[in-house]
Amino acid sequence: EKGGYPSFMLKEIAEQPKAVTDTLLGRIDPEGSLRLDEVRITRGELREVDKVVIVACGTAFHAGMIAKYAIEHWTRIPCETELASEFRYRDPILDQRTLVIAISQSGETMDTLMAVRHAREQGAKVLAICNTNGSTIPRESDAVLYTHAGPEIAVASTKAFLTQLVACYLVALYLGQVRGTKWGDEIRTVIRQLSEISGEVQRVLATMEPVRALARSLAGHDTVLFLGRHVGYPVALEGALKLKELAYMHAEGFAAGELKHGPIALIEDGLPVVVVVPSPRGRSVLHGKIVSNIQEIRARGALTVVIAEEGDEAVVPYADHLIRIPATPTLLQPLVATVPLQVFACELATARGNEVDQPRNLAKSVTVE
Ligand code: F6R
Repeated sequence: EKGGYPSFMLKEIAEQPKAVTDTLLGRIDPEGSLRLDEVRITRGELREVDKVVIVACGTAFHAGMIAKYAIEHWTRIPCETELASEFRYRDPILDQRTLVIAISQSGETMDTLMAVRHAREQGAKVLAICNTNGSTIPRESDAVLYTHAGPEIAVASTKAFLTQLVACYLVALYLGQVRGTKWGDEIRTVIRQLSEISGEVQRVLATMEPVRALARSLAGHDTVLFLGRHVGYPVALEGALKLKELAYMHAEGFAAGELKHGPIALIEDGLPVVVVVPSPRGRSVLHGKIVSNIQEIRARGALTVVIAEEGDEAVVPYADHLIRIPATPTLLQPLVATVPLQVFACELATARGNEVDQPRNLAKSVTVE
């Protein structure tokens, strides 16, 4: 049932191009517009939305953090992303014009379910993004957009994460389309780029051998740090979470701009730091800033592992290890940048003798608060 792979996790990592394609299937019409009629919230209601709140846990929360960038950019609706376990306890401000998006692979996560119930009690509309047909969260929501990752068996989420991202982009672009923002042309272009992205994920998967070798070489370390900016920041958090749960290593993700506000004190000789570099074409200001960050940490002895777009030459002098990813639109980069981090964590965990499908102390679906 592992299809010849040594673990479900490796199988599920390899299934990501198909999972992405399946999640897009039937949702883009031949003219290149989105069709999300399955989401039973009317266009009228979507036009009325004045605030979006995303709730989720763990990896799904990281997808939600990325969704915030996409939703605010393409729709100009204020969006916040919050840990489901924190949400209802601070008495959040919600009403009929708030769209709450609950992201959950299993559809059974109690923290997320309780956030959904709370939101509906306050009169907000809830849209679930979920991978499990008929599970509790979609049943208790007003509407659902299913991800089509197929069953995810390994405890650590991989293919579900990529499809959560796809679903979030679809919602963001659809909201933009329905409300007709100034980004109409860009939205059409991105829909086309999204429909081609699974080939790019496949290309990344084909180049993972050096990442595996690097991971094995770092198995004796205690700590790995991850840095990113913009949508690369949640990707850094996700890379760190994967390493914690699988390799049982101290791993932390930071927004690269925060380095100078404290974390830079952690840098010492030989400390591996993985840096997710934004495209030099898109938000080029950010690119320059992150290149400076890489210089700064390397000058203090860090072993730099740089994930950068093909053709990005500015990072080359400062990268002890360079992992190339295909050029993508800025907001879509997490779909390709996360993959090497999944492979990295899986390989490092294996090198440390850990069982990757069943990490200690963790359950696939967390049905207690
Ligand atoms: C990490 C992981 C967990 C889940 C989290 C939410 O690899 O799998 O952090 O993402 O428990 O689970 P769902 O998406 O089922 O609500």
